[in-house]
Amino acid sequence: MAVPEYVIEQIRNSNDIVSVISEHIILKKTGANHKAICPFHKEKTPSFVVSPEKQIFHCFGCGEGGNVFSFIMKYENISFFEALKKLADRAGIVLPEDAVSKQQDKSRDEKKLLYEINRCAADYYKECLQNSPSAKIAREYVKKRKLTRQIIDKFDIGYAPSTSCEMLKLIKEKGYSKELFKKAGLMVFSEKSGKWIDKFYNRIMFPITDNEGRVIAFGARAFDDAVPKYLNSPDTPLFNKSKVLYGLNLAKKPIREKSRMIVVEGYMDVMTAHQYGFENTVATLGTALTEEHARIIPRYTEKVSIVYDSDAAGVNATLRGIGVLLDTNLSVTVSVFPDGSDPDSFLHSRGSDEFFKRIENGMEIVDYKIKIASDGVDINTTGGKISVASQVLPFLERLKNEIYQEEGIKKLSGAIKIPAHVLKEELKRSRKSRPALKSRFEKINRQNIAELKLENNLVLILLKYPELAPIIFDEKKLPVDEFNNNNLSIIMSVILQLHEQAKPVEAKNIMNLVCSRYEKDESILEEINKTVSSLYLAKIEYRNPEKTARILIDDYNAVKSKKKYDELKKAVVMSLVNGDRKKSKEFVEQYKLIKGTHN
Ligand code: GTP
Ligand code: MN
Repeated sequence: MAVPEYVIEQIRNSNDIVSVISEHIILKKTGANHKAICPFHKEKTPSFVVSPEKQIFHCFGCGEGGNVFSFIMKYENISFFEALKKLADRAGIVLPEDAVSKQQDKSRDEKKLLYEINRCAADYYKECLQNSPSAKIAREYVKKRKLTRQIIDKFDIGYAPSTSCEMLKLIKEKGYSKELFKKAGLMVFSEKSGKWIDKFYNRIMFPITDNEGRVIAFGARAFDDAVPKYLNSPDTPLFNKSKVLYGLNLAKKPIREKSRMIVVEGYMDVMTAHQYGFENTVATLGTALTEEHARIIPRYTEKVSIVYDSDAAGVNATLRGIGVLLDTNLSVTVSVFPDGSDPDSFLHSRGSDEFFKRIENGMEIVDYKIKIASDGVDINTTGGKISVASQVLPFLERLKNEIYQEEGIKKLSGAIKIPAHVLKEELKRSRKSRPALKSRFEKINRQNIAELKLENNLVLILLKYPELAPIIFDEKKLPVDEFNNNNLSIIMSVILQLHEQAKPVEAKNIMNLVCSRYEKDESILEEINKTVSSLYLAKIEYRNPEKTARILIDDYNAVKSKKKYDELKKAVVMSLVNGDRKKSKEFVEQYKLIKGTHN
């Protein structure tokens, strides 16, 4: 255990959840709890609840939940350790050096070094672009691309010289290791020549920053026709390209002010858009919008304008991005530009007023989908109508909002001249075919579902009535390690541990233990915190908790032994079929032992 439980406990005790959360969002007191509009999903009426008594939060809308650490992790998008550090600082607690395991120390220090190295390289490249005599070609290039002095400064644009040993100079000067430069994605070891060389050379360098403006990676453009046109940093401990929106750190304030995010495809598009006053512009890095992006956007705005290139790749990326955004409540429009132009070239040739008009008059995604689906199709033919409908209907089916869906059907009906009620029937039919599959699946799992419910209720009753622990664990000896559901099994084992150590079974103790056990596996941490907070705030009362607990355990044991019995029965049959006499005899003996209880 890297950070001892008592330290985590001390930090948690010194950071009251209500006062920490209210530093970030507006809380309103309602009875014993506080309520707010959830910061993790879009909603109009508050379903985000904070309990000062239990020191947890939970959103009944999106299911997010946990303790003060989980809130900071989620809100600031940082690791458990970083959240711990942050809250320790907030409370003026110094984490004892020996409390921090070597490995964690290493990973924290390593990240810090990687940030430093990236910053250092960015400064170096920038200096080269501005002052190095060899950078003449680069200076001419940025001039040709009409990048102004201000934009060069704002985006820290630089130049990586054509020799491929510049990073070695930095290493000598600053004393970092080559391994770290490799980890930062700035150097590679060439097996062929047996030499360390720079990853980037003879390219224009665009630093990519995180939300706090720290350089985490680079995009590097070749001059003229060299391939690849863009070379990006590989994924590193700091950088994952499907999570980053280029320019977001600079754009976040304007996005909030203008209540709109403009999403473009390329580095150049972002910079030119900013230059022309559209400072609420960001880019995906050579990918379509991902689910990770879709989770980031609602923190800043609910309106998104997608302005991708008009070529085939741009259309595909737009459609994929729209697909991801269908599952959100974001309002999305698509702006299309004349053939062959992208925002960068359009702005230079047509100016900001024209650009603004295109943004304002963006197409609703349904219209865009219909337009793309009917491109090159003769919608006066039956085949054409079917082709368009078969592409657009599955899309409409995925729309979250029924009003949009209804509108979409009307639009499709108008476009392919098929009555709306026919399309609706078709939509219904495709919807029906799915639940059928689902119910078959559920049948198979009915037993598992009964088991899951019991596991859930057992955890629930223990959380509500911790005084039942002796009955459940000592008297009834609940087989905790047989729990099927992973989250519930972890929570149960934590509760058991508290009980065995004679510590109170309380939300904060449970979460502290979970935190110290799973600090390295944040996805488990997140899942469990969600489960615990939702169970804690579930509005369920038991008239006679003790009796209920006994019944639950008896039912649980019955379900379990029925399962064993069924499995054994199957095993007997299988061993007979396989002619394995010895096995079948064994199984029959076991079967006889428990048969009496299952008839
Ligand atoms: P210019 O051609 O300089 O105007 O660049 P652009 O930013 O407009 O790029 P383009 O529209 O060609 O491509 C859009 C984005 O896709 C770029 O900004 C890059 O992020 C990415 N991209 C384009 N070409 C490549 C490539 O060859 N390799 C990689 N990894 N990414 C690329
Ligand atoms: Mn371009």
